[in-house]
Amino acid sequence: MKNVVVFTGAGISAESGLKTFRDSDGLWENYRIEDVATPEAWNSNPALVQDFYNMRRKQVLAAQPNSAHLAIAQLEKKFNVTVITQNVDDLHERAGSSSIIHLHGVITKARSTLDPSLIYDIEGWQLPMGATCEKGSQLRPCIVWFGEPVPKMEEAIEKIHQADRLVIIGTSLQVYPAASLLYYFTGNAGLYYIDPKAEPKGQLPNLTIINQKATEAIPGLVNSWLNEN
Ligand code: OAD
Repeated sequence: MKNVVVFTGAGISAESGLKTFRDSDGLWENYRIEDVATPEAWNSNPALVQDFYNMRRKQVLAAQPNSAHLAIAQLEKKFNVTVITQNVDDLHERAGSSSIIHLHGVITKARSTLDPSLIYDIEGWQLPMGATCEKGSQLRPCIVWFGEPVPKMEEAIEKIHQADRLVIIGTSLQVYPAASLLYYFTGNAGLYYIDPKAEPKGQLPNLTIINQKATEAIPGLVNSWLNEN
């Protein structure tokens, strides 16, 4: 069985109604990263940060996986698939993918501010100030903020090393270290970048660019792979 890694960003969830970050009217046009997505923001105004993620959690819970998420789950019929996502939504899970690495955390979970290994499911959309872990410390969203380490990077690099095919979908590849992952790919059965704004990468001459939306490109690509001999 061939190993396929699918590396996704906010663009795959755009057609489920969730805003991307850097497109026009994206989240970072309406909020400053320093105000809502850094440890310093949390230290200076935790209630504001909590509200920002509560609103985003509400949107995620109301969203549904789209045909691109669903098609990726279907790939498991024939391939050994790992999804590495920068997204904090759970749409890959709800679409049925079974092996998912959330590089930047998951919005449906909370973690202790004292002990990062204490992680809890959040019931509903609201994580209130005052909610605490079992050791009595305030819970924060289980999100990797700017300036924090990305603990899942090593596992992700390992998966990319083992991949025969890599499909990159809906990411501007502007946030590191996540954006460096594609350079660890050494497979020989295909490297694809699907994004309306995807551009060639000089260092990756074998990169196939598909300038389409995820739901336009992915179901067809998956179908053709499932029907290969
Ligand atoms: P960006 O907002 O930077 O990029 C979104 C990409 O999705 C762009 O390249 C768009 O062209 C593309 N796109 C838009 N609609 C699409 C569609 N229907 N189908 C396919 N692609 C589409 O989002 P990311 O690259 O995911 O980090 O951002 C990376 C990280 O920056 C996020 O994980 C987040 C953010 O700050 C944290 O929160 C730590």
